[in-house]
Amino acid sequence: MGGFAGNTGHDPHVLYTLSAVQILALFDKLDILDVGKVSSYVAGLQNEDGSFSGDMWGEVDTRFSYIAICCLSILKCLDKISVEKAVDYIVSCKNLDGGFGCTPGAESHAGQIFCCVGALAITGSLHHVDKDLLGWWLCERQVKSGGLNGRPEKLPDVCYSWWVLSSLIMIDRVHWIDKAKLVKFILDCQDLENGGISDRPDDAVDIFHTYFGVAGLSLLEYPGVKAIDPAYALPVDVINRILLTK
Ligand code: FPP
Ligand code: ZN
Repeated sequence: MGGFAGNTGHDPHVLYTLSAVQILALFDKLDILDVGKVSSYVAGLQNEDGSFSGDMWGEVDTRFSYIAICCLSILKCLDKISVEKAVDYIVSCKNLDGGFGCTPGAESHAGQIFCCVGALAITGSLHHVDKDLLGWWLCERQVKSGGLNGRPEKLPDVCYSWWVLSSLIMIDRVHWIDKAKLVKFILDCQDLENGGISDRPDDAVDIFHTYFGVAGLSLLEYPGVKAIDPAYALPVDVINRILLTK
């Protein structure tokens, strides 16, 4: 079938397919893939209106548009889909506040904004974004502690250091937040005895928030952390190796 599942014997889904491609990209092992099959699986999930389903069961969400576009870009197979229709669908999910939701008319959410802005960045379509309006909405996500939330009135959470910051960088508005306060918030979420990073200070650490904390610190140019690409969520040297070679 070409897609990857979360574990052996499970059903394939684009979520795990992108993870597999990203992990192989990190280790410079994309050559072990049957690129034709994997890209056909992903491309086959595009719907008539340009949107993408996550798997054969059909759930549609702009997360899946990002995943498909990111995956096919890494595999250099974007020509297997209608990029124009994919972009039109993402633009149809843009709201009056400048943000994006998971389907047309759905509430703006920082996670979905990362997906839509990331997909538009990869396809060279950022002119569809109202950068000042979206930049304002995104920088409003910073709360008193310095942390970022995912939408109005919600609690700050380290993972939004990735979803919000990467989007602000892609639209050139990262100087609109207080970077030093955000660095302090992320560092305050560390478990200083056992390692790891949690969603907010004094919560239990987990691998998800540890990744996004480190990725956020990278975007904040914290010393000693490698540069990460805001659209692909992979180290810049990995992305350059892939995209700058034939
Ligand atoms: C909870 O939001 C949801 C999250 C913390 C994850 C958001 C991230 C995405 C939707 C992007 C995923 C991207 C890919 C490529 C799979 P909430 O508003 O319900 O709750 P909270 O902010 O209070 O936790
Ligand atoms: Zn989180």
